[in-house]
Amino acid sequence: STPLKIAIAGLGTVGGGTVELLTEQADLLAGRAGRRLEIVAASALERPAGLALDGVQFFTDARVLAREAEYDVLVELIGGASGVALDVVRAALERGKSVVTANKAMIAHHGVELARLAEQTGANIGFEASVGGGIPIIKSLREGLAGNRVTKVMGILNGTCNFILSTMQDTGRDFADVLAEAQALGYAEADPTFDIDGIDTAHKLAILASLAFAMPVSIDAVTCEGIRHVSALDIRYAQELGYRIKLLGVATISDINGEMAVECRVYPAMVPLSFPLAHVGGPFNAIVTEGDFVGRTVLEGRGAGARPTASAVVADLMDLATGRVGPTFGVPVDRLEPRPTAPRGTG
Ligand code: HSE
Repeated sequence: STPLKIAIAGLGTVGGGTVELLTEQADLLAGRAGRRLEIVAASALERPAGLALDGVQFFTDARVLAREAEYDVLVELIGGASGVALDVVRAALERGKSVVTANKAMIAHHGVELARLAEQTGANIGFEASVGGGIPIIKSLREGLAGNRVTKVMGILNGTCNFILSTMQDTGRDFADVLAEAQALGYAEADPTFDIDGIDTAHKLAILASLAFAMPVSIDAVTCEGIRHVSALDIRYAQELGYRIKLLGVATISDINGEMAVECRVYPAMVPLSFPLAHVGGPFNAIVTEGDFVGRTVLEGRGAGARPTASAVVADLMDLATGRVGPTFGVPVDRLEPRPTAPRGTG
């Protein structure tokens, strides 16, 4: 059988974790897929030391990798809503090559356009790693809950913020100190303002809402407030009252006078201790969904970091290796509900 030929664009935290997983678990994956998952090419600004990339064609320009390397699937781990990441993904899809990405900003801004391009060229896009790190929330919404009308999806979607809030609560340490630790652990974005101002959560929420409600939810429709102003005192008072402060993303759809209205909000919430999200600590994420037949589901796991995110990247690679693929958002782009998203927020 022919191997699945993989090109990896970006060898940072998640890229490194992905190389490690594909190397360490090579035999296990091959046994399951019935073919080997082989890294044939990779790109980074500099060739990183310490990664098992012998025999892998190396590029310093990801655009050249995308256009010229011989691969079946391009794994985009560069990040950023547009720029190089978007160029390389478009280039791969235009060649009819599938894409796996962890890039929530790009999917939130350009997901529908990319899904359409993939449909035109017969390629597929996997983005399990874009939300919830290692938690299989994309598959859960797209496949597992396909028989339901999902009315709500909400959760803790940013590991950095949850790590900061939980550690401030547990240790009384200050915000800046804990942020530096989250960066050192590889949880934070290159620009951590995306984490702490709630923008990363907003990207992820827009993706989850698009899948949950089968409609293209624009990032512009997400009202967003971060955790910069949450003080140690706020956390203490919340605790005394029986609450935890958590940065939540909450998306709901409801029928207002016959119109389906979507509301998406990101904000630091007072979560009662009895609610499933209150006890989620550290870099963990958790997502609660409500569907009309299934009721409530809760998924929890590591939402950031090299190994958990690599786990999600490889889940998508295994789908491609075995042919378990379908439309990007679960239904073809033309069948996504074309409804307008909620009135613009004010935040
Ligand atoms: N910066 C993100 C987080 C990484 O802290 O959750 C995972 O998307």
